[in-house]
Formats: sequence, structure tokens, C-alpha cells
Amino acid sequence: MENNLNTPLTPNTIMGDKERLDELINYLVQQILADIEDLTPVVIIGIQRGGFCLAKRIAKKIEEKISTKVPVGSLSTTLFRDDFSQPHGYLHLEGSTLIPFSIDKRTVILVDDVLSAGRTIRAAIDELLHYGRPSKINVACLIDRGGREIPIQPNYCAWKPTVESLPKNLWINVKFQEIDGTDEIVIEERKEPILTEPEFYADKFKLHDKTITNQFEEQLEKYPRYWKHKDLIGLRYLSPQEIYLILNMTPIFLKFFTQADAPKKLYVLQGRAVIHWFHEPSTRTYISFDLAAKRLGADTLSLSSAMSSEKKGETLHDTLSNIEAMRTDITIVRHRCSGVPKLLAEKHRSHIINAGDGQNEHPTQGLLDLYTMLQHIRKIRNDPYADLKDVNVTIIGDILHSRVARSNIWGLLNLGAKVTLCGPETLLPKSFEQLGVRTTTSLKEALSNADIIYALRIQLERQARGLFPSIREYIKLYRIDKDSIKFAPDHAVVMHPGPINRDIELATEIADSPRSLILQQVTHGVAVRMAVLNILAKSEMR
Ligand code: CP
Repeated sequence: MENNLNTPLTPNTIMGDKERLDELINYLVQQILADIEDLTPVVIIGIQRGGFCLAKRIAKKIEEKISTKVPVGSLSTTLFRDDFSQPHGYLHLEGSTLIPFSIDKRTVILVDDVLSAGRTIRAAIDELLHYGRPSKINVACLIDRGGREIPIQPNYCAWKPTVESLPKNLWINVKFQEIDGTDEIVIEERKEPILTEPEFYADKFKLHDKTITNQFEEQLEKYPRYWKHKDLIGLRYLSPQEIYLILNMTPIFLKFFTQADAPKKLYVLQGRAVIHWFHEPSTRTYISFDLAAKRLGADTLSLSSAMSSEKKGETLHDTLSNIEAMRTDITIVRHRCSGVPKLLAEKHRSHIINAGDGQNEHPTQGLLDLYTMLQHIRKIRNDPYADLKDVNVTIIGDILHSRVARSNIWGLLNLGAKVTLCGPETLLPKSFEQLGVRTTTSLKEALSNADIIYALRIQLERQARGLFPSIREYIKLYRIDKDSIKFAPDHAVVMHPGPINRDIELATEIADSPRSLILQQVTHGVAVRMAVLNILAKSEMR
């Protein structure tokens, strides 16, 4: 197509109007029809968002010309981009992927509005191949802007302006009525704000209160990259900004792995080796971390203490040095002794994630709980910006021995929530009050203003040590059941880290009721852990 670019390349130059756009689309359709005789096996898939608009218009024009229905799908390539894990703020989750037909043995016409470096097309091809095996993939673009980094050429191209050199700060933006309210081709200045990640997620996903964003800005000098840890040892070491960084990234991963039409695997951790090193039993944490790592494309291996050379007297440090000598990247550690993950983190190269250490902390449990609480509060307040400030959380049970309680206390206090601890005196030392929480032995008092009721597992082994008189008495005084829950406001929901002792700390009628968020916690756990793994893997690059 002839190049009618005779205006200087300055920002806001309009290179084409509605008619010009239509003319270019007609030219693309002409090329496709001239190239493909039999359109029966053809499907058109547009890259969100401009490419998808274009794909629909191309399909409509083809259908008008030859009365053949051409299936149209969309691809949202963000999570497949090779720069997805880079700590910059340019990436958007652009629309969603929807391919409601088989692409096996079909000719796919992959459509984008402007082709430049080729990296979007590469990401799109990567993603597409998760949906099936087409016999052919042809690329159609409205405008070939040049500046290719990857050897991809369009099969159909409506316009390749003979622009000697379009400076990198200028780009061609194709506007579509459906997205922008107008059809236009315009030269724009690339204004990529240098956003930090928290600002980016806050901005793009509007997930938390503006005050938090302001706090980020205030802290800019102090936290130039926000996440300043090699490891995740405990929530006591994280700032509110760092906690929100994880919580704000979580819905991206949640959407990804719960969305029915999404492929189940990403490549954010491709080539990384993640080691699960569990010295205590686990169902939720282990499976959740393993799924999270696998869904991010990592290779995972697990080592239990029963199977390791610790049995022959090898020290923990020696074991980890040997594992790391095999160039592993992330080590997820659960240990019965408080402090083991921290000790390992101080001496070793890999990113250490504490999956629960003794009575100390269980930070990813705390994070998934915070995320679940945040979603509940936003839902009942009908406010997508709500945060946890002044939210009343009551934690009930064996506080003394609970790493889950400690991580929740640190995290909740960090985010401005009000925490009440409740349980028998022997399991609830007054010293906790020094942290800034309220303590009470009265369940009625503890529940009276609770937004969230968090029941802890009664560690039955403690009863043998006489730390509470009898299970029957515990049930009578502290069980959350249909009678005791009446002390709480109607909007209060019930959470539990699992495993549950059914009908001891929590009655089945409540655990399985609509007021229970327990299985939601577990689902959120995978997404939270994907966010943690992603952030830690990136911290290596810093
Ligand atoms: N909540 C929790 O840590 O469960 P697991 O012990 O099954 O991992």
C-alpha cells in the first residue's frame, strides 16, 4: 500500500482517520483472501486489545464477502511476555484470552494492530500453543512499524510506512471506536512512567486505598525497589508496602489459575529449581507451594527429613550447601524448630521461604489469610479500595504455640487492623499485649465486634501436657458453633488455617457453612505463593 506519510513525525500527528483505517483493513482482507483459497480451516485470533478489535472487523468483512463464518478468538499475552517478570510498570493485563473453539489442525491468523519488536507475537505464539496444535500460524498486522528484535515477519501487512527512523520515543497508536471511542491512527509520544511495582499494581488494579500509594511515594527513597529481601522469613520483617506488593499481585495469579479458559502454566520461573524441604508433615502448604511453582514453570523437587542424609548425621547447613551446589534457586523450608529458616537464610545463597518454623512464623499462611480478609472486607463494604485498617480480627485458641497466630498478628498490626486474642489463660500469655493486641479469656467479649473470627487448631498433643483442663471444657468455652457465633455481628466470617479438628475448635455446622472462608483461604494460598515466588525470583536480579 502506498505510503502517504508526508507529515513530520511529531507527537499527535494523525496518520489516518476512520476511512483510512477501513481502507487498510480492506487491504488486509484482500491479501488474506488472495492467499487462502479454502477458508474452512481458518480461525482468526486477535491479540488484546487492538488486535482483537481488528480481528473481529477482518472476520466480519470476510464473512460479508464470501458468506463463510470465521471463528474469532482473543489472546491476552501479558503473562507470556519475556519481560513479564521485569520490575517495571509497563505491562497491563490486557483483556482476557478466549478461544472457544479448537485450533488443532486449523490455520490460525494471528492479528495485531502494530508490529514492531516482534516480542508480542512471540508471546502470543507461546500462549497459542497451549491451546492446541494449529497446522499453520500466519501473522497479520495493520502496520509494520519496523524495529524488529525477533525474526518474525507478517504474512499480511496493510501498511509499512517508509519511515526512515521512527525514534524510539514515538510510537504508532491505532485507536478503535470500541476501545478509544474513535477510529484513528496517530503518532504518540511513549510516556512510560517509571512506576515502582506497588505503584503499578495500585494504579492498574485499583486494589487499595490511595493512602497506601502515598505511603509508597513517601518511602521511595527508603525503598527504591520496595522488596528488599532475599528471603521470606516472617511477616514481622515486612513493611506494609511489601505486604501490599504481594497482596496486590495475588489477584493477577488468582485470575490466571482460576479462569476456566486460561492455560494453566506460565514461564515466569522457567529453568528455576525450587526445593521443598519439609521436616514436618504438611498437606496445604506443600501442595500449594508445589502447584504455585509448577504453574510458574519451575522445576520442583522435594526432600523430607526421613529421606535425607540428615539421618546419617549431616548438618542442615551441609545438606543445604550440597543442594545449592546443584544450582538450585529457591528453598522452601518447614522445620519444627523456630529460627531454622532464618539461620539458613543468613548463610546460604538460595532464596529461603519459611513454610512454618516451630512456634515462630508461617508467613505465607499469614499472607493468604490477609488476602482472604481483604477480599471479605471489600465485599461487605462494597469498596474495592478498602484496606484492613481498623478491621477487627479475633484469633481464638492456642495462641501460645501457634506460628499461624504470630504471622497473622504481625501482618494485621502492620496493616493497621485491630487484633483480639482469646483463649484459655494457659495458652494466651499476657505478654502478647506488648505487641499492641487486646487479650481476653471471654469468647463472648472477643466476638462482640469481630469482623473476622479466626479459629486456630487445638494442638491436641498440648492437652497431654496439661495446658488446658480437658477437651470437653475447651469445647464448652471456646468452640465456634451455632450458639457461640451468635455473639458476633452477622457479617463476621470464620477462618481457620487447617487442618481442622472438627467439632473441637470449630463445629462442622460452621466449618461447612456459607460463613466459612476456609476453602477460599486454600485457593488464595496458591496465588499468594505464586506472587511470593515471582517476587523472590526477581529479587535475585536486583
Ligand atoms: N495451614 C497449614 O500450614 O497446613 P499444612 O500443615 O497442611 O501445610
